[in-house]
Amino acid sequence: MKDMNESETIFDIIKKRRSVRHFNRAKLPDEHMQQILEAGRWAPSGANAQPWRFVVVTQRETLAALAECCYYKMFKSRHVGEAGAVVVICADPGAGSQTYQIDAAIAGTNMTLMATALGIGSCWIGAFEEQTIRNILRVPEKLKIIALIAFGYEVGKASVPPRLPLSSIVHNEIYDTAGEPGIITKKKYSGALSVFGKLMRVLFNKR
Ligand SMILES: Cc1cc2nc3c(=O)[nH]c(=O)nc-3n(C[C@H](O)[C@H](O)[C@H](O)COP(=O)(O)O)c2cc1C
Repeated sequence: MKDMNESETIFDIIKKRRSVRHFNRAKLPDEHMQQILEAGRWAPSGANAQPWRFVVVTQRETLAALAECCYYKMFKSRHVGEAGAVVVICADPGAGSQTYQIDAAIAGTNMTLMATALGIGSCWIGAFEEQTIRNILRVPEKLKIIALIAFGYEVGKASVPPRLPLSSIVHNEIYDTAGEPGIITKKKYSGALSVFGKLMRVLFNKR
């Protein structure tokens, strides 16, 4: 069992956290699961409503059932079935916070960062069949299932997906669209190329 590395800064942990999609099925120590859940409990929330409710799943058959209704890029999420535990993050829209989904996401973020600090991998699951999971876990209708987070010990090493540079996402004082990522500067063509360009824009729904 790994103790927290006291010399790691919060930024080290933020950068170290990866979406882990290969787990070794090992059970996680109860103290560590407790610390992960505590990190969620201490999240901020609108009006301090604490609208989150967490369902902790560790039984192998239930994890296997969840894996059947969670997805990664259209494929079933095998890693959910390999996790040591899955925390299903639910939120109560009637708990007094208009930002219940954001609140729940912050709680989840706290949990993934705490897990990283403890040497435990994690992966957010936002693509899932809500009603099927509601039925499996008997989640009351009044709660919304926001996301699942799989936790476990990593097999292999997840690659580091790139991040956009600050220069293309930060705007100083006003929102300047000049360096916007994803916006392709339109080129002016004439003749056949112009017709082709128009056709492509219609096909790909771009103006
Ligand atoms: C709200 C949210 C939903 C996500 N949903 C899924 C998912 O359904 N399946 C999955 O395998 N990964 C999911 N991910 C993980 C992302 O693919 C991952 O965070 C992203 O590719 C960046 O990689 P990194 O987490 O290693 O930095 C989700 C992440 C977030 C924050």
